[in-house]
Amino acid sequence: MAYVTSEVEAGVAVITIDRPKALNALNEEVLTDLKAAFDGLDLDAVRCVVLTGAGDKSFVAGADIGAMAKMTKAEGTAFGKFGNDIFRMIETFPVPVIAAINGFALGGGNELAMSCDIRLCSDNAVFGQPEVGLGITPGFGGTQRLARLVSPGMAKQLIYGGRNITAEEAYRIGLVNAVYPQEELLPAAKKLAGGIAKQAPIAVRNCKKAINDGLQVDIDKALEIEEALFGACFESWDQQEGMANFLRKKDDPNKVKVVAFQNK
Ligand code: CAA
Repeated sequence: MAYVTSEVEAGVAVITIDRPKALNALNEEVLTDLKAAFDGLDLDAVRCVVLTGAGDKSFVAGADIGAMAKMTKAEGTAFGKFGNDIFRMIETFPVPVIAAINGFALGGGNELAMSCDIRLCSDNAVFGQPEVGLGITPGFGGTQRLARLVSPGMAKQLIYGGRNITAEEAYRIGLVNAVYPQEELLPAAKKLAGGIAKQAPIAVRNCKKAINDGLQVDIDKALEIEEALFGACFESWDQQEGMANFLRKKDDPNKVKVVAFQNK
């Protein structure tokens, strides 16, 4: 892959979009590499993913404007679907994905961050949907996910005005969970991912699915989704060993041990 790197350590994969000369802007090649990086992960080994951008200036500065400039209506529609399909794959990826937003997250960059489960950013990060200044709408899910993540009113204000916001403002409106000095961002994201990777993997996956799927339906259907995923955990070795360990500890504190969950 020319534009995306991937490395795995202790159950955590770090996927890096690596096109710093164009501030990691997304053209078809970058998007294809991004998909290949996720497709290539071994889900028996990887329990959490950190997604970031190369360099200290930009996470992703948007879809590639040069590549889009001459697109026809049909090509624009197809490009939107291409990006949407990949971002939806990331949103529904079986294990959690943490965006470590190390600078500009504009247009498609903010949209990519929003398709991740959790967003952490550096203090120099800049967020925005500047598309209307280019004569287009957000095209990789921005009109849908920003309204769901912050609020319809705030999303409309940001999208209609094309105004960028700072890391602090993104934190205030709930777009990101935490802001770090640049050099602390990746270690913080890896630490968070490492903590998730130590939990029972089937349970973590089922939590992600329950939250994501439940948000799409009414509360009664959502609770049925939770019940099914809760019940499914009881077929796992991890549930049996996790609970047996708790009971052993109560019985005899000397039997305390950290359960190495098996993903089975
Ligand atoms: N597409 C293509 N190239 C881009 C790019 C983008 N989105 N963003 C930056 N670049 C390129 C620049 O053209 C420049 O390349 P050259 O050195 O070859 O000229 C290089 O990255 C560095 O950029 P700047 O010189 O502009 O850096 P800066 O620090 O002065 O400005 C910036 C940084 C404010 C992010 C500015 O580059 C910018 O405004 N970029 C465009 C941001 C944008 O509008 N994003 C939305 C795109 S549309 C979209 O994403 C649609 C969608 O929803 C799918």
